[in-house]
Amino acid sequence: MLTASDIVKEFPTPAGALRILNGLNLKLPTGEAASIMGPSGSGKSTLLSILGALEPPTSGTMTLDGENPFHLHPDQLASFRNQKVGFVFQDHCLLPQCTVLENVLIPSLVAPRGDHRKRARELVEQVGLADRLHHLPSQLSGGEKQRVAIARALVLSPHLVLCDEPTGNLDRRTAETVTRLLLDLHARHHMILILVTHSEVLAQSVPIRYELAEGRLVER
Ligand SMILES: Nc1ncnc2c1ncn2[C@@H]1O[C@H](COP(=O)(O)OP(=O)(O)O)[C@@H](O)[C@H]1O
Ligand SMILES: [Mg+2]
Repeated sequence: MLTASDIVKEFPTPAGALRILNGLNLKLPTGEAASIMGPSGSGKSTLLSILGALEPPTSGTMTLDGENPFHLHPDQLASFRNQKVGFVFQDHCLLPQCTVLENVLIPSLVAPRGDHRKRARELVEQVGLADRLHHLPSQLSGGEKQRVAIARALVLSPHLVLCDEPTGNLDRRTAETVTRLLLDLHARHHMILILVTHSEVLAQSVPIRYELAEGRLVER
């Protein structure tokens, strides 16, 4: 279960505090998928950085599986984020000098020991790139790179996967393929999926749809 209660986020500016999130609430049971739309600058990425334990809210609480990560010691916070949250951004953020398999394994470098290689190979297969394991990102198309980024986000079996405009840089057909893939992986792996998007098609592809407006989430 992911919960956010009465989240306020303000940024300091010379003209005073700029309030971006204003008493936002959210509750998603494990296994749910939700989309969030909203105009540019409405605070979608800010919200994901709070839900992903990257940045604390100004006030309010967020919990994942009953735990508030912002109450943890900084070391524990880093491993919470690493192991419980997967991120997919608009830009794939792959390391250019690392192969597909190595990129997918990056989160496991700072994780407890385990058979991460097996899981990484399986995920690369599930995103349809089994024959590209040892290719470099420069040898892949935009959609393929994004599929690698998705496999990387899932490698440590996170309970929460946050996607910030994951198809924003892709043409329509590639976006549809990547969307289908995300939904397929969501169905296969038990996790909460949140999709921030400007794409109506992507937003409609999940059962719960929100709009971020005036600092709060409204069901669409
Ligand atoms: N670190 C920051 N310092 C000051 N203002 C910020 C910071 N991060 C985001 N903002 C502001 O917060 C607002 C929301 O940003 P963001 O969450 O990126 O919106 P969205 O993802 O919906 O386009 C914007 O006006 C942005 O300029
Ligand atoms: Mg954004």
